[in-house]
Amino acid sequence: MLNKSNRVAIIGAGPSGMAALRAFTAAQAAGTEIPEIVCYEKQDDWGGQWNYTWRTGTDGYGEPVHSSMYRNLWSNGPKEALEFAEYTFDEHFKRPISSYPPRAVLWDYINGRAEQSDVKKLVRFANVVRRVEFDDSTEQFTVTVDDLQNKTTQVEIFDQVIVSTGHFSFPNVPEIAGIETFSGEVIHAHEFRGAERFAGQRLLLIGGSYSAEDIGIQCHKMGARQVTMSYRSQPQGFAWPAGVDEKPQVAAIDGRVATFVDGTSREFDAVILCTGYLHHYPFLPSDLHLDSPNNLYPEGLYRGVTWHKNPRLHYLGAQDQWFTFNMFDAQAWFVRDLILGRIAVPTEDERADHMATWLEAYNRVDDDPAAVQFQADYIRDLIEATDYPMFDLDEVVRIFLAWKADKKTNIVTYRDGVYTSVMTGTTSIVHHTPWLAELDDSAERYLSIQATPSAVRAPVK
Ligand SMILES: Cc1cc2nc3c(=O)[nH]c(=O)nc-3n(C[C@H](O)[C@H](O)[C@H](O)COP(=O)(O)OP(=O)(O)OC[C@H]3O[C@@H](n4cnc5c(N)ncnc54)[C@H](O)[C@@H]3O)c2cc1C
Ligand SMILES: NC(=O)c1ccc[n+]([C@@H]2O[C@H](COP(=O)([O-])OP(=O)(O)OC[C@H]3O[C@@H](n4cnc5c(N)ncnc54)[C@H](OP(=O)(O)O)[C@@H]3O)[C@@H](O)[C@H]2O)c1
Repeated sequence: MLNKSNRVAIIGAGPSGMAALRAFTAAQAAGTEIPEIVCYEKQDDWGGQWNYTWRTGTDGYGEPVHSSMYRNLWSNGPKEALEFAEYTFDEHFKRPISSYPPRAVLWDYINGRAEQSDVKKLVRFANVVRRVEFDDSTEQFTVTVDDLQNKTTQVEIFDQVIVSTGHFSFPNVPEIAGIETFSGEVIHAHEFRGAERFAGQRLLLIGGSYSAEDIGIQCHKMGARQVTMSYRSQPQGFAWPAGVDEKPQVAAIDGRVATFVDGTSREFDAVILCTGYLHHYPFLPSDLHLDSPNNLYPEGLYRGVTWHKNPRLHYLGAQDQWFTFNMFDAQAWFVRDLILGRIAVPTEDERADHMATWLEAYNRVDDDPAAVQFQADYIRDLIEATDYPMFDLDEVVRIFLAWKADKKTNIVTYRDGVYTSVMTGTTSIVHHTPWLAELDDSAERYLSIQATPSAVRAPVK
């Protein structure tokens, strides 16, 4: 029987894995018997990308560093778009905060929910999953895990596996003609930890998406002399502040000089590759391994979560992400209900038909509004199948589009805007200091000053 599952492994305790832990304990609290859950997390703490580290390359155990976040990172989308439907910002902070919190404040929010459901006891920290194998005869997985502190290896058997290891950790590093002659520093965004040290420098950022935009603007904020972003497909097209601009793709680099495909060239002090990440799951054999570009509907996943070729294996958060935390919840609740047998796993043909229909819809997506709507519809489809609280997804789509418009208006002030929660109706407050002038990213500073009524302005509609 596919749905009789005694043991479930969750690999990774970032926001997706934490959502899975929460989903199972929510069912348990409501009186449902749940399988034995073991969550393996290779770091010493949970939070995934939000568990900031100063390290680059390898961590204290010699393992590849997971997080790509930097000290100065603030949420790049309004928190009203990522809010959990069943643990709101109001519940956590007990008062309104601004719409774009810094990294440490969002970690606090995720951590608060997980602590509330007392799931830490289910997580084996500093445990790295090395191998997952499926036995066709027993229909079980063998999971091989290294305990990094005790230096032991354990092999355990599971009936279902949930992969929640994220996909913004292994850098995509393209070859660029002549880059080996560049005498300045070359790093990938994964290794970028702070913008201060680039003050006074001329930077070349290769890539035309979120990392290029945000790292570029952070470096501008911290005093970089010049920031040039080089796009491959299309320019980002923001009204960049003086000292920041875009160029097309790099044709070649010779010493300190990069020449672009439009024939222009420029001299640089450092290169930051903002060229995205690979779906990479070194613990999975190829027949269980998702292989996809970073997009909204990775092929091979029924309902975006369950591995078509083996529906006892599930992936959370494998999509490119407009929605984040509440999408991981919707996925986790759905996968939980599949595992609990509350939702039947369709036949192979039915799954294939379902995926084909959604893939067709995805292939019709041709601009950002359609992309956000697609992801909202995807989430709605999942939530309708479970008891996760439904929320006004269409209003969240409007929030995303207002956010996009705010960015177009002014890329350095958009984080000063405020939105209204679809969960609570609470309108955020304006942060006490405009983002561009705020040089202290700590949670202490962020939460230190209460809003005054005069700080509240009309929400963006
Ligand atoms: C630079 C950057 C900035 C971002 N900013 C935002 C933002 O502002 N707002 C937003 O909503 N989202 C943002 N995101 C998106 C981010 O992907 C999600 O917010 C979220 O962290 C994804 O959660 P996850 O659990 O799927 O993956 P992750 O957060 O990547 O967590 C995966 C976990 O799996 C663990 N793991 C990996 N391999 C193993 C293994 N073999 N064994 C055991 N454990 C393992 C890792 O240690 C990690 O804890 C950002 C992403 C990046 C890269
Ligand atoms: N909170 C924040 O402020 C913040 C900051 C940074 C990142 N993030 C998050 O991090 C995640 C990843 O973002 P990302 O920007 O790193 O990855 P991404 O969105 O996948 O974008 C990758 C970029 O690299 C370009 N690229 C890939 N290969 C290239 C090559 N060979 N030559 C030139 N360009 C190439 C792509 O160009 P094409 O378009 O041509 O494919 C694309 O512009 C997102 O979820 C984002 O929200 C958040």
